[in-house]
Amino acid sequence: MNIEVLTLFPEMMEQIFSFSIVKRAREKELVNIHCHQIRDFAENKHGSVDDYPYGGGCGMVMTPQPIFDAHEYVLQNTDLVKSEVRTIYCTPKGRLFSQELAIELAKEESLIFLCGHYEGVDQRVIDELVTDEISIGDYVLTGGELPAAVMVDAISRMIPGVLRENISFQEESLFDGLLEYPHYTRPADFRGLKVPEVLLSGHHKKIQEWRRHKAVQETCLKRPDIIKPDRLTSKDVELINQFNTKE
Ligand code: ADE
Repeated sequence: MNIEVLTLFPEMMEQIFSFSIVKRAREKELVNIHCHQIRDFAENKHGSVDDYPYGGGCGMVMTPQPIFDAHEYVLQNTDLVKSEVRTIYCTPKGRLFSQELAIELAKEESLIFLCGHYEGVDQRVIDELVTDEISIGDYVLTGGELPAAVMVDAISRMIPGVLRENISFQEESLFDGLLEYPHYTRPADFRGLKVPEVLLSGHHKKIQEWRRHKAVQETCLKRPDIIKPDRLTSKDVELINQFNTKE
């Protein structure tokens, strides 16, 4: 996959994409990420990229020219598949990002992320260049860089080969209605805090049952809103009823 990021802070973005799993995915060329300075495309001699809003009001708006030119540049000078590329504008006004959307976007060949600043970008940019407006949550950040980083991270780990295959499958089912069960590692006794006995038993079936039980319990407690009733087994339903009657 090719990802081009249009930003006013390319050095910051480069840093974020230079660690851990995303770094390894880049080294293996499972994902190619390039960050482009929008300011470099400004035609005015001060390199300014924003201006006052027509109609008045507070804040500044990012002007269309540098963004249109940066966008055209990445379409023409990178390995993007032009006809298929999706241009994502990071904005709190967008559709909410989710694991499902990360999985969907990980299937694309080419993505462009546009990171806005100030009060946002000129509407003509959105109308002409943007295919997807996406928000990472109902709060307003100072710019689109952190949202783009969040999305690129979540998308990258869903590209086949980036994680061990079985993990990504787990993930799909995890977000299919249940939170993950708790994890433990060595030591079995840390300052008197013990790992649940069943996990040390080597009894595979019992471990699976315990994990499912915990997943159902965690989900009921923390995120009952994500439960998909049609994915539950009759044993799960029994458990949920037990939790509910205890309350
Ligand atoms: N830009 C500013 N806030 C944002 C958010 N919550 N999601 C995506 N882009 C943003």
